[in-house]
Amino acid sequence: MFNTKIGGIGYYVPETVMTNDDLTEYMDTSDEWIRERTGIQERRYATKHKETTTTLAARAAEKAIADAGINKEDIDFIIFATLSPDYFFPGSGVLLQRELGITNTEIGALDIRNQCSGFIYGLSIADQFVKTGMYKNVLLVGSEMHSMGLDFDTRGRNVTVIFGDGAGAVICQPTEENGKGVLTTHLHSNGTCAEELAMIIPGSHGGYHLGTEQFGFPEDDKPGGIYITQKMLDDHMIYPNMNGPLVFKWAVQKFPAVIQEALKKTGYESTDIDMLIPHQANLRISQFVQKVLKLSDDQVFNNIQKYGNTTAASIPIALCEARDLGKVKEGDLVCLAAFGSGFTWGSALIRW
Ligand code: UT7
Repeated sequence: MFNTKIGGIGYYVPETVMTNDDLTEYMDTSDEWIRERTGIQERRYATKHKETTTTLAARAAEKAIADAGINKEDIDFIIFATLSPDYFFPGSGVLLQRELGITNTEIGALDIRNQCSGFIYGLSIADQFVKTGMYKNVLLVGSEMHSMGLDFDTRGRNVTVIFGDGAGAVICQPTEENGKGVLTTHLHSNGTCAEELAMIIPGSHGGYHLGTEQFGFPEDDKPGGIYITQKMLDDHMIYPNMNGPLVFKWAVQKFPAVIQEALKKTGYESTDIDMLIPHQANLRISQFVQKVLKLSDDQVFNNIQKYGNTTAASIPIALCEARDLGKVKEGDLVCLAAFGSGFTWGSALIRW
């Protein structure tokens, strides 16, 4: 059995900066409210019609491939985590393969839908493939273009101000070095709160989970034609919705618990963590987790101030930035943790 190391890493954020003040042009919000509740100062927005979730992913992937010192044709498997895919189907994995110009059709492309926990779910999957010797260069990407799918009317403000666009990618490779690479991963889910942080339209549910009345379905029982109704458009139902306070309450419990789980499994203490990279959900959540685990400022990396919450991309973007700043170094014990829609949550410990 091999261990899985991160042999290369890269990220890409679009050039356009959207400040909190910029958002006040579209909705009733304020820089003060956003900073105070979330810590976010600005986020990046991709260029409509010119960039997509896949093109952002490709820019990050190219950097990770170069960083690993490999060629794109060396990639033997793609894992793509996103909640804002280019298409309903096919998934973005094959689009990324095409965008990168990977002509090798021997490879597989897997799309995973675990939202904020997507990168950790993806890392766990990559780890299983790599440590058994099945693949040697797994390209794992988290990418989001939220800006295309948010509600810029005031009624969407609790969600819209939080999210930003960006992508992060890693190359997962085998190593025979003892004690190096991914030491453990932990994945969890609880579907009882599925709709509390969700975008449920378009979808095949036809009102099954929530009752049909509110959606404005046609009276007839002809097959088809129920993915999007005029009422859904009129009532702004086509956007993500979030029960923020409920998500917050769950997040501040599950983050520390799943980090402790990883520490317990490997016999480490929180003082052994050199760097915690939490999913960048809300700076207040990260600060709460830091306090509960009694971590110093030097042990936690946050960049939500600049990029907002980039969902599946937030961990690889932060990990890469931390590495580039010399805050994640060879031999460091790095902890990754996430919580989000599903609800799903997870953690990973890596000896860098
Ligand atoms: O990636 C994982 C997924 N997401 C999260 O982890 C998010 C977790 N939750 C949160 O971060 C927080 O719940 C939010 C930042 C989303 C919201 O903060 P909050 O302190 O929980 O606010 P709230 O939703 O309870 O709303 C408080 C007030 C409301 O006004 P009233 O009813 O008290 O008059 C909202 O309408 O703030 C209002 N509000 C806003 N005001 C200005 C909500 N969004 C905004 C806004 N600007 N953007």
